[in-house]
Amino acid sequence: MELIQRPRRLRGSEVLRKMVRETRMDKSSLIYPLFVKEGTGIEEEIPSMEGQYRYSIDRLPYELERLSKAGVGSIMLFGIPEHKDEVGSGAYAEDGIVQTALREAKKQFPDLYYITDVCMCEYTSHGHCGVLCGHDVENDATLELLAKTALSHVEAGADMVAPSDMMDGRVRAIRECLDSHGHKNTPIMSYAVKYASAFYGPFRDAAGSAPSFGDRKSYQMDFHNRREGMKEALTDIEEGADIIMVKPAMSYLDIISEVSKATNVPVAAYSVSGEYAMVKAAAKMGWIDEERIICEMAVGTYRAGAQIYITYFAKELAKFMDEGRIG
Ligand code: PBG
Repeated sequence: MELIQRPRRLRGSEVLRKMVRETRMDKSSLIYPLFVKEGTGIEEEIPSMEGQYRYSIDRLPYELERLSKAGVGSIMLFGIPEHKDEVGSGAYAEDGIVQTALREAKKQFPDLYYITDVCMCEYTSHGHCGVLCGHDVENDATLELLAKTALSHVEAGADMVAPSDMMDGRVRAIRECLDSHGHKNTPIMSYAVKYASAFYGPFRDAAGSAPSFGDRKSYQMDFHNRREGMKEALTDIEEGADIIMVKPAMSYLDIISEVSKATNVPVAAYSVSGEYAMVKAAAKMGWIDEERIICEMAVGTYRAGAQIYITYFAKELAKFMDEGRIG
């Protein structure tokens, strides 16, 4: 048989396979999510996320050092406050947990890039991502608080803010607020296409941010919808978002692909806590090869069109890249 097309020709050796690779990654595109908690001397492992910790501010530098050494240059900070109230005032307090952590971290590690998650759910007594009116999350009243939160982060040293609340109009509210306070050049990475997902379960344990009643379906998206994701992405870009995020990642590769085609801004994908927990649990049971699964999940996400990857496996991926086992 005279075959002309033999795709296997380009798979014949490692050198050739690497030469023709279509997806290449770089450590500079990794972002590591980090939990910082009020108190001192705290470095506690999160039970549902083995290998991930909550740090008090005095312990944070040890982790920042490890990240720095691993070549992971960007982090995303989440705060766990001691006190919560109806209006989430800890989120925008000048001496709030994220604001204080930022000032400290920037002093000691000025070369890292600090992104902050902007949301209310870790700070409200009811665990919802905004202020309530009855049992409803009040969209417009929440906008002002989100803008205040973002501004307080930037004034404490945040290099970029990432609103994750899913209120309508928050990107515009934050952009206007930052601009009018002289922060025109601080970028916004919007959690634009964020689905109401069971994959956030372990995170809510980690941050103590599960809603005390109901769910987040009136603000986060219905995962049956793809076209609505494009509407969210395009709306946020119009409102001034510089980077668009899709979240979760693994079960949403179609969305990542479509957002990257439909827009001309960088697309970030967040491989969330539930994805991490599933890999850790199966690896612990000896049912999967952890390293190969981490690599395949990462490559799949980039291949779908993500340029930025937010992952609890950032340090591991950086190491695998350094050692040429992925990339
Ligand atoms: C805050 C927020 C959540 C996550 C990121 N920001 C939780 C939620 O929306 O319930 C989830 C991250 C993860 O699961 O790793 N709103």
